[in-house]
Amino acid sequence: MKNDRTLTFDEFDEAVNPRPEDCDFDQVVEEALSRRGFLGGVLAMGGFAALGGAVLPRGAEAASNRFAFEAVAASTADEIVVPKGFKADVLVRWADPLWSDGVAFDQVTRGTAASQARAFGDNTDGMEVFHHEGRTLLVVNNEYTNREIIWGNRAEGKAETDDDVEKGLLAHGVTVVELAHDGAHWQVVTDSPYNRRITPRTEMALTGPAAGHDLMKTAADPTGTVTFGTWNNCGSGTTPWGTYLACEENFNGYFSAADEAHEVSAELNRYGVSAKDWGYGWARVDDRFDVAKNPNEPNRAGYVVEIDPRDPNSTPKKRTALGRFKHENAECVVNRDGRLVIYMGDDERGEFLYRYVSNGVYAAGVDTDELMENGTLYAAKFDASGKGIWLALTPEATGMSQAEICIHTRIAASKLGATTMDRPEWVTANPNADEVYCALTNNKNRGVKPNRGGDDTPAEGPNPREKNNYGQIVRWRPEGGDHSAEGFDWDLFVLAGNPTVHSDANAGSENVNAGNMFNSPDGLAFDSNGLLWIQTDGKYSNEGDFAGQGNNQMLAGDPVTGEIRRFLVGPREAEITGLCWSGDRRTMFVGVQHPGEEGDSHWPDGGDSVPRSAIIAVTREDGGVIG
Ligand code: FEO
Ligand code: CA
Ligand code: CA
Repeated sequence: MKNDRTLTFDEFDEAVNPRPEDCDFDQVVEEALSRRGFLGGVLAMGGFAALGGAVLPRGAEAASNRFAFEAVAASTADEIVVPKGFKADVLVRWADPLWSDGVAFDQVTRGTAASQARAFGDNTDGMEVFHHEGRTLLVVNNEYTNREIIWGNRAEGKAETDDDVEKGLLAHGVTVVELAHDGAHWQVVTDSPYNRRITPRTEMALTGPAAGHDLMKTAADPTGTVTFGTWNNCGSGTTPWGTYLACEENFNGYFSAADEAHEVSAELNRYGVSAKDWGYGWARVDDRFDVAKNPNEPNRAGYVVEIDPRDPNSTPKKRTALGRFKHENAECVVNRDGRLVIYMGDDERGEFLYRYVSNGVYAAGVDTDELMENGTLYAAKFDASGKGIWLALTPEATGMSQAEICIHTRIAASKLGATTMDRPEWVTANPNADEVYCALTNNKNRGVKPNRGGDDTPAEGPNPREKNNYGQIVRWRPEGGDHSAEGFDWDLFVLAGNPTVHSDANAGSENVNAGNMFNSPDGLAFDSNGLLWIQTDGKYSNEGDFAGQGNNQMLAGDPVTGEIRRFLVGPREAEITGLCWSGDRRTMFVGVQHPGEEGDSHWPDGGDSVPRSAIIAVTREDGGVIG
């Protein structure tokens, strides 16, 4: 257990909501694995071999090999590992100035609020490339800060001054940065008119059904329509009309109350808001983060934020129609009938998978505000037989108003009995099939205790393992190829595990072997060849259940054959998150978040340097296309 100042979300939650003592492991899985997969069944596993369906032999080479690289081994080195014939260059690091009036990172002071305001934020996450008037714009989330690193100049690694707190606050948000290729490398265009930091202090509009509702009004904003800032932006998305979607995830950890005994409402408790913050201390510099003084302020966070990178003066819009929860990413699909469908996960143990379907259809010149404001939210209900349905979160079904559904979305989904999931992370749609994938990263509470709303979490269906340490990737096919249909079929693309340690369900599915094993799938994205890229945010102890898995990594999976290969391994104590490509597909931008979060990394600069989250540009040494 780390000390108090380095509590992760999981650890903090465990301290506040301890789980019951051990219960038996060993229900399972058989049901989920006893069906044939969509394509010949990649989901059977060694320990349950009698289960029907053809399966890939462990470690089998795919018949038609679409991987243009040789797999790399697991690694515990403090460096980026890529396959032979590839290289990785650092593009931009936390605290690198984006304007010429900024100051270079100071290894001793680790910067100030003023330097951070003109520099790249911390902990890079979801990102997307946009092209505008011949320019390349990269938009990227800066999810949160490593407090013990940004305040590592302070005796206890904690903020000592208001400026320290403000520095941390301004390291959050979203960065827009223009990139240019100098013939050899991509580089940040210092002073580009498109460069922009969007922070927890940037004015934003609240739009959609919740805008203006009483629950959204505060002393500072009696209209309930204008708010300031976005923070804890995890995954991303792009709309068909070329805007960026930043998804607010663990927004709750930034609220607190001077009186630690202050009790929040049941509705705020469902989202984990409490009187004690996670160590950011924002209420110290801004009263709106004091939940005793401003109990409606947390209702104004937890949304998907739409940002137009082509207009550096545009006001970001919080899209309440897409619901309020711990948003991971937002995967937009234009349905065959032209309606906009957005798939979204709520990343908390035992929370739900969602879908939004617009009322209107997307076409050139259409009012895109309307598409993001008027539609229906759904939550997924899976059964054990490989079928599922989308439950419409309507006023009739929930007994809640449309605005309440958009603010207390978890409560609406609980009322309808949606399936509690093993922490839904990124969702991505296969460009070559009517098929959608979601990473379910892990869930130590599966089969052990209910979710925050009291909903049961039985080990069944797409969440088949108790105390799920390793995670899995579920995929579904909408009925008739219609993403607005009520029904779908599902199977598991992979059940992660460790076949060198376990011979039961924890060995993983047949497409997991000693050479490609991993835990905690998180980021997902398809490339132009139809390969599924998988990024991990898991345990990097390389011991016990995780022996042989090394540092966090990025792999590619073939959705047709089920084969999975490891492509990249990150430095120590980092997560690999965020993935996009240059327009010519010759560069893959990959995010490296929180290197050295427990004190054992000096990546990327080496020596005794402060570890810094950074984006890397991965290319082929021969300059070829990379996906
Ligand atoms: Fe920010 Fe769910 O990862
Ligand atoms: Ca994530
Ligand atoms: Ca994660």
